[in-house]
Amino acid sequence: MTTVTATSVRPWLDATLPVEERIDLLMTEMTLAEKVGQTHQVANIDPDADAPEIAAGRISSSLYASGPTGGNERDEGVLVGNIDAAQRHAVEGSRLGIPLLFGRDVIHGHRTVCPIPLGIAASFDPDLAEEIGEIAAREAVVDGVAWTFAPMVDISEEPRWGRVAESLGETPVLSGRLAAGLVRGFQGDDPSDPHRLAACAKHFAGYGLSAGGRDYDTVSVGENTLRNLHLRPFKEAVDAGVTTVMAAFNDVDGTPMHAHEHLLRDVLKGEWGFDGMVVADWNGIGQLVNAGVAADLREAAVLAIRAGVDLDMCGGAYLAHLEELVESGEVDLALVDDAVRRVLRLKFRLGLFERPYAARPGASNAPTAETRAVALRAAQAAHVLVKNDGVLPLDASPDAGSVLLSGAFVDDGDALLGTWVLDGRGEEVVTPGPALRERLGDRVTVADGRFSDVTLMQARGAKTTVMLLGEHRSRSGEAQSVVDIGLPPGQLEVLRAVAAFGKPLVAVVYTGRPLDLSEVLDLADAVLVVWHPGVEAGNALASVLLGEVEPHGRLPMTFPLSTGHIPTSTHQRPTGRLIRADVDHEEGRYIDALTYPRLPFGLGLSYTSVDYGAPVVSSPTLPVDGSVTLTVTVTNTGDRPCREVVQLYFRDPVAEVTRPLVELTDWALVDLEPGQAREVTFDVRAGQTAYAGRDLTTRVDAGEIVLLTGPDSARLQPVSVTITSPETSS
Ligand code: NOJ
Repeated sequence: MTTVTATSVRPWLDATLPVEERIDLLMTEMTLAEKVGQTHQVANIDPDADAPEIAAGRISSSLYASGPTGGNERDEGVLVGNIDAAQRHAVEGSRLGIPLLFGRDVIHGHRTVCPIPLGIAASFDPDLAEEIGEIAAREAVVDGVAWTFAPMVDISEEPRWGRVAESLGETPVLSGRLAAGLVRGFQGDDPSDPHRLAACAKHFAGYGLSAGGRDYDTVSVGENTLRNLHLRPFKEAVDAGVTTVMAAFNDVDGTPMHAHEHLLRDVLKGEWGFDGMVVADWNGIGQLVNAGVAADLREAAVLAIRAGVDLDMCGGAYLAHLEELVESGEVDLALVDDAVRRVLRLKFRLGLFERPYAARPGASNAPTAETRAVALRAAQAAHVLVKNDGVLPLDASPDAGSVLLSGAFVDDGDALLGTWVLDGRGEEVVTPGPALRERLGDRVTVADGRFSDVTLMQARGAKTTVMLLGEHRSRSGEAQSVVDIGLPPGQLEVLRAVAAFGKPLVAVVYTGRPLDLSEVLDLADAVLVVWHPGVEAGNALASVLLGEVEPHGRLPMTFPLSTGHIPTSTHQRPTGRLIRADVDHEEGRYIDALTYPRLPFGLGLSYTSVDYGAPVVSSPTLPVDGSVTLTVTVTNTGDRPCREVVQLYFRDPVAEVTRPLVELTDWALVDLEPGQAREVTFDVRAGQTAYAGRDLTTRVDAGEIVLLTGPDSARLQPVSVTITSPETSS
């Protein structure tokens, strides 16, 4: 007698089999219609209205819907609750029982919102990024989310572009390492861990170059720049095991990314061996029609499936046309099979066939003491002190005089959460007003958020004023580009009026982008750039202001002198007529202004002073396949501890193509007690200087490399090494 078991009927359910074998077993059973169904994602799946389509195997994935059980209510148009009911239609009601994949933007925390990614980048701390990813995953799985659309690794020199808030800064190595940290945090060692999510490196590729900083705009860039800059953090995310990649909305030199066969299929999937899933961005396939490269949705489907887009996010192009396109011979079945394999591979890797339903339904995923501790450390690490004439830290003693806390965000929790927050709650944010009052009691006066005559009178009477300036969270992020990176209207006027009293003045800048802070830096005695810090915003600020922790964030993007100076970045390439924007403060390329950055990449002060010795290398020669050590002594010459971010850059003086004047290649987080000196040693491999040459292949050249160390990209000391090829070194 034979016993009918689940695995005898559906052999792909045997979790002991290798994933590729399970995919083979499942695919031999699938009809073309079912295969096409696996390439289709819908927004806000509705367990009732969509039941027939789910049961017919015509929906593969859902975007946004969240919450395993309960009401199936709409919260700001997004369906919450009851996603397990939708899953039941797929698992129990469909012919093959293929589970749905629930994706949601969990970008910098789920309920426990941490700083925006640009703030995470200011920490220069991949381990912290990993912790942030991990707590986000643990909270999101409670709501049935299995896949997040993060990290974003678009490199940009363009602060007008609102999406820099979601980025990990302007340099490939910082962005890549932090992305790898986030990927490890979201996915763990094995994404089938019920507490982890699939991650998504986005937006592939070149999106940070959108013309004029206008979101979704066109991109004109050559492949050499793409390879030497923009593709690198994606490669790092792929090497870290990221399971999905999202195509970008932009074109690259005339070819929209959703139709870019070369970059998606040849480079990402071919050259890099990425075997994960490529998801479209929202209706990115349909938008090929708007971009004028496809006459209709049918043609758009052809272009996208050929290019290598596997899952159609909310466009409906694949569902409507792929079946017929295969039957008519216009699309090769092998292309559809490849896409379906990648979708199924992800579902198997996530363990969805074993555990299709939300982990721990009904459990609380509200912030806890433990998750808040991570969020607090992250928010503190995002605080970048860019000026201090000695007014900070504030004296915490009870008789140290009155403090006025004033400005836009004293008690506005929602404003401080940052962009792309679907699940965090403004009321769960510790705001600056209560946090400072808790520490300073009656010494602090918290003015209401509006600037008024009363504020000015209070500032006249206070010993020290702390002004909260900058952008509300809704002023940065997707589709929030600006033409002017100055402070929002009205803020400078009040700052000028308060500064006129001549009392100690601290400016705290909440922002999703580098702003033009020139006048703020002139008027205030101390300036902290703190991004949008998340649920622990107030505690982080109070602890840094009062010196309970030392400020240790560093700028992950250059702050230009003005809007007109954009783009500026640390990886400026030399021209025939050399002017180094980061050091040549007396010269300019404009007749009406100098060109140096107002605040250079990597800048961040502490409450002490740190002296850097000259870098020393273990050998003047560096074999092309080997390494040298570089040692630099850093000494805390002040009377407070600090966490120094010791930065290592390099310059390749002669290469086949123009190379950055300085490029960040490594750094070390070093804790120093007052008076302490430490030797910091970096292993420097010749491979770190690799670049794409004229023929686009990766090369390491023999010859001189200048290594530079210092506290930021504008204060560096050089030492040279010579890379030797095997012939020259023998
Ligand atoms: C569009 C955005 O570009 C992308 O980053 C996001 O993940 C998707 N919408 C889904 O929300």
